[in-house]
Amino acid sequence: MGISILGMGRYVPEQVLTNDDFTRFIETNDEWISSRTGIKKRPMAGWEPTWYMGREAAMSAVKSAGIDPADIGLVISCTATSDFHTPSMSSIIQHQIGAVNAAAFDMNAACSGFVYALDTARRFLETDDSMKYVLIVANEALSRFLDFSDRASCILFGDGAAAAVVEKSVKLFSSHLGSDGSGAELLCARALNVAPEVALKNGFKDPFPEMELHKLHQNGKEVYKFAVQALPRAFELAAEKVNITKDDIDWFVPHQANIRIIETAAKNLGAPMEKFIVTLDHYGNTSSASIPLALCESIEKGLIKRGQKLALIGFGAGLTYGGIILEY
Ligand code: UT7
Repeated sequence: MGISILGMGRYVPEQVLTNDDFTRFIETNDEWISSRTGIKKRPMAGWEPTWYMGREAAMSAVKSAGIDPADIGLVISCTATSDFHTPSMSSIIQHQIGAVNAAAFDMNAACSGFVYALDTARRFLETDDSMKYVLIVANEALSRFLDFSDRASCILFGDGAAAAVVEKSVKLFSSHLGSDGSGAELLCARALNVAPEVALKNGFKDPFPEMELHKLHQNGKEVYKFAVQALPRAFELAAEKVNITKDDIDWFVPHQANIRIIETAAKNLGAPMEKFIVTLDHYGNTSSASIPLALCESIEKGLIKRGQKLALIGFGAGLTYGGIILEY
């Protein structure tokens, strides 16, 4: 059993940081950022809550799907940057959009979140006949966790949200999800306000003693090496389950982290860059929202059409990775 994407929506904050804006507070320039990452500008949430961006995207997905929100059986919010430890963002969004009959939970698989959530949605739909629609909302405000004095990481990320309404279908579907927790320290941000030295004093060895409180900590080079292997692997492991090759795919929609990662992954896969959707130039890396933002924008532009075969491939903190192959 597969799923059909009935409708999508997206929301990005109006406020934007250009590459030139960063030169006001860190030693950098547009040439370095553009050539090393492909990013030119990125939306910034400012004081807009993450759930608000998610709600806006969700309402527009419900509208585009043409469904009654009361028929949604489950809301999954994928986010690594929730406004609250509790309640879940999905409960807030569920209420705000009037999905009165839905269960709701959040999922954190970092930048692989949308891929994980789509596969989870399919499993719910497959095992519960009474469930008509699942709403997936990917909403992120990485800017709140960035160390704006770390020039190698703060220039990479943007804020935004995208959502999809899905239902069960007999269309092509395959997935593979994976994680390699041995790389957890390569990309991490602390949630609770407990300093490593306090943990140590109380007998607990902190797994990330170098990490500053609440700030994203990244080993860019190592994450890069993981990414260029993980993206092709995610595709190949999903593809072999349904006997599909790269040549059968109309569009690859990869996690939007760095243009060089996408180009190297395309090369490693032996697939032409023309088949890869790229939106990171104007969104930056919006974590779990990056794949659905790219997907939604490409559908709106008429690039991605009904009946085409898509490969959604992601990687992120964890280190997680995952691939979904589906017919749009
Ligand atoms: O969702 C997953 C999120 N994370 C990723 O996808 C990260 C993957 N990694 C990357 O995208 C790249 O590793 C980065 C973009 C983070 C860095 O690119 P790089 O080509 O690996 O650069 P580097 O770290 O080797 O740094 C090269 C030089 C260094 O200077 P020195 O030591 O050679 O003098 C850095 O200090 O570039 C310097 N540098 C900068 N210069 C100007 C680092 N950041 C900047 C900057 N502006 N913003």
